[in-house]
Amino acid sequence: MKIRPSAHRVSAEYMYKYNLATDRMKRLPADDPRNFMQQANVHCAYCNAAYDQPGQGALQIQIHKCWLFFPFHRWYLYFYERILGKLIGDPTFALPFWNWDHPRGMTMPPMFVEDPRSALYDRKRNQKHLPPAVVDLGKTDSTDTLQLVSNNLTIMHNEMIRCISDPLDFMGARYCEGSEANPGEGSVESGSHTVIHSWVGDPEQPTSEDLGNFYSAARDPLFYCHHANVDRMWYLWQRLPNNKLPNKRITDPDYLNASFLFYDENAQLVKVYVRDTFDNRRMGFDYERIDLPWVDYRP
Ligand code: C2O
Repeated sequence: MKIRPSAHRVSAEYMYKYNLATDRMKRLPADDPRNFMQQANVHCAYCNAAYDQPGQGALQIQIHKCWLFFPFHRWYLYFYERILGKLIGDPTFALPFWNWDHPRGMTMPPMFVEDPRSALYDRKRNQKHLPPAVVDLGKTDSTDTLQLVSNNLTIMHNEMIRCISDPLDFMGARYCEGSEANPGEGSVESGSHTVIHSWVGDPEQPTSEDLGNFYSAARDPLFYCHHANVDRMWYLWQRLPNNKLPNKRITDPDYLNASFLFYDENAQLVKVYVRDTFDNRRMGFDYERIDLPWVDYRP
């Protein structure tokens, strides 16, 4: 079992390994599907209209703003993580998560910002939001740290608990063959997830590159750390007791049988299904346990 650690708590040895693996990924031949830029382009392809729905005219395949959001990104990180592990000969290597839902994780994680020569560094980020700036999930523009932290916790409580009365409120709206793209985002996708993207993206770039735009988001190594926490929100949500929602599973066969294509750690093309994403432990990874101060942080 791989245990994904909180990015603010990892050891120097872990940072060294992660940096080394990312550096090797960047140095792979440009046409190797495991190369860093190729991986970033996988994300771009599934969100910038690279694919049409077969036999559906101009209807596009879009994995954001619908119920494919969590399963797609879970598989995407799954393969990215395995490629990194393979490049350093460590099959237990696990991606770190950016713990922005906890007061101790509400700044950009140090390993991504401290050293411009690191493979984890990206210069296309909002320079005003480097540490010690605290993430601003409510887009308040406040500079009062305590106010920001408190506001962030309230927002997480709302996205994870208070605003959910149906599984699709969390997962995103139904989207199948023949549907128009973007039927609707779930609470975390539209909220904290998107706010962090634009909070990190560089406003000096033409379209908020890197993290602030779909086509370029995964060119910043911080993308995968951010999305590991987004994935963790799904994992946590599945486990939170919620009396209003005894059953959080979606059983629609159109959902279960939806599939994606990825390249694995051996550069083989593989087809994977939404139905195999519901249990992260079966996929071989888990998350470091961190307390969840937002659970009781009612507005
Ligand atoms: Cu595929 Cu956070 O976006």
